[in-house]
Amino acid sequence: MPTEATEKPGKAEKALHSTYPPSAEFVAQANGGPDLYGEADKDRDAFWAQQAQRLHWHKPFTEVLDWSDAPVAKWFADGKLNVAYNCVDRHVEDGYGDQVAIHWEGEPGDTRTLTYSDLLSLVSKAANYLTEIGLQPGDRVAIYMPMVPEAIASMLACARLGLTHSVVFAGFSASALRSRIDDAEAKLVITTDGQFRRGKPAPLKASVDDAIGGESPAPSVQNVLVVRRTGEEIPWQEGRDVWWHDTVERASDKHEAEAFDAEHPLFLLYTSGTTGKPKGILHTSGGYLTQASYTHNYVFDHKPGKDVYWCTADIGWVTGHTYIVYGPLSNRATQVVYEGTPNSPNEHRHFEVIEKYGVSIYYTAPTLIRTFMKWGREIPDAHDLTSLRLLGTVGEPINPEAWRWYHEVFGAGRCPIVDTWWQTETGAIMISPLPGVTDCKPGSAMAPLPGISMQIVDDDAKPVKLGETEANGYLVIDKPWPAMLRGIWGDMQRFKDTYWSRFAEQGYYFAGDGAKLDEDGAVWVLGRVDDVMNISGHRISTAEVESALVGHAAVAESAVIGATDATTGQAIVAFVILRQGVENTGDALVADLRAAVAQDIGPIAKPRDIYIVPELPKTRSGKIMRRLLRDVAEGRQLGDTSTLVDPAVVESLRGQ
Ligand code: PRX
Repeated sequence: MPTEATEKPGKAEKALHSTYPPSAEFVAQANGGPDLYGEADKDRDAFWAQQAQRLHWHKPFTEVLDWSDAPVAKWFADGKLNVAYNCVDRHVEDGYGDQVAIHWEGEPGDTRTLTYSDLLSLVSKAANYLTEIGLQPGDRVAIYMPMVPEAIASMLACARLGLTHSVVFAGFSASALRSRIDDAEAKLVITTDGQFRRGKPAPLKASVDDAIGGESPAPSVQNVLVVRRTGEEIPWQEGRDVWWHDTVERASDKHEAEAFDAEHPLFLLYTSGTTGKPKGILHTSGGYLTQASYTHNYVFDHKPGKDVYWCTADIGWVTGHTYIVYGPLSNRATQVVYEGTPNSPNEHRHFEVIEKYGVSIYYTAPTLIRTFMKWGREIPDAHDLTSLRLLGTVGEPINPEAWRWYHEVFGAGRCPIVDTWWQTETGAIMISPLPGVTDCKPGSAMAPLPGISMQIVDDDAKPVKLGETEANGYLVIDKPWPAMLRGIWGDMQRFKDTYWSRFAEQGYYFAGDGAKLDEDGAVWVLGRVDDVMNISGHRISTAEVESALVGHAAVAESAVIGATDATTGQAIVAFVILRQGVENTGDALVADLRAAVAQDIGPIAKPRDIYIVPELPKTRSGKIMRRLLRDVAEGRQLGDTSTLVDPAVVESLRGQ
């Protein structure tokens, strides 16, 4: 039993709603106090203007928010800053050049330590080389790299030069990389020869060649810059490909950062929507960095020079952008960056890393916590985890059981847990406890942060009542926020349709999540209400997987759903109808279909189960009844089948 919990014995419902207040010691030293909420409510613009002072502005702003062009916001629009200068140079100029910025831990056990001076030199060299090859502010650069320091330096070099980076998760396939390169018209791709995965080198540059070379080369790409990581033999195209060590490493380590407008584009990050085509979410500079820095400071209670911070995300996702690169570095964090998987060489790895570096703040995904639970508490119990003082989660709702396990086994009942809700689109954390203020309830992200204004509304845009558990509640953001997306790259109509049309009259941003408020007003996020799945905290759309499946010669039609999974939150389950005359070879065909999805999107999108079926349940209007498929996949009693065009279909599915 946790010592601080005011847990009352009794019904499960009571346990669900028991609270965990922060300890008096934590409260006494916390960065954020309860007054932040009042301050923000009194004058939101003034509050954000004050938070923006966390940054160095080459030219101070005089305007805070311009919402006249809604839904495209402008924050601090007449100010100028350099994002990389804020993350690196100013710390060196302030005398912290020798402070460790990155404790890098390679998967095979090799390590590198980069101080802020080292990082400045690496970023400056990269900036000089990218300038030398003619890249201009506004040009796009694709970054397809594992978790090596050069990946972070590449992002910062782009930021420094006003280039817009588009990081593509190194687990995505060549074809996913190609579509992102083409959509953004990237001129440069930065990659590595390969990456270490579960103890073995795996090629990566080869995927770049598959993506952009061959018979129809990507028209926009001029160069591929390659960092040597695994040392394996790789394909090479003279004139296009260049080694990092022959170019960047030889460039001058002096570079002066130029200031850019606060609204200058900083990055694109592609994320799944409800159609098969991923959306390039556009973020800009000043507002994004303000909220990244503000949230990292208050939500993680980060103390520069004292804490050792570790966010276990990959830079390929938004969490890696905001809480490995821009938030922590703007706050002069010392952080651990780990290249590999949590069970390489064995399940002790994360705990060894925490122990080795004295990690004090640890931020991860619920799916990993559930995996650790499965592996058993004797693994963490074998390590000294007393350096930890704050724990965080992100990416999906955390089940109360996992929350309590995390609290007890990682934190010995001592560390506040921040369950942070946000999205690629929001850019930074929106809903979270404040660790020195909030009495936490396991499983609830609790309340919007100071400065953030959100509501939970019903179908008619009316706020749901406290404690109302049955009604559909939708999470909406009713006022602009600094780190909000500024659009979808090349498709502003889609931007408006996707986020702003559902509650157009009210002018609310619709997040796509269902939620409820409990009787105390705490927010419980219930998950997506659209056709987006959440697999281990990663967003994958049903449409993307369906289109990968129908791309296979054997498949006539497919329907994909996210079924509840005890470890990954949701798992991908596909129902497939074969083309006329195609023989169902059972396991061999299923394996082939899974491989087709891995090739089209990436291994993370491989369905857990594929059922070959004669028909799909459809309504009279031809809409696939996903709810029924979900019932089948989860082995439940089937719900209402009255709208089904052919009830016999259900029986055929059940036979699977
Ligand atoms: O459904 C919500 C879920 O993840 C979605 C955003 O996914 P993505 O853009 O990939 O960003 C993930 C990392 C920020 C949301 O729409 N989600 C994220 N955090 C939480 C969450 N659901 C419940 N609780 C959370 N803390």
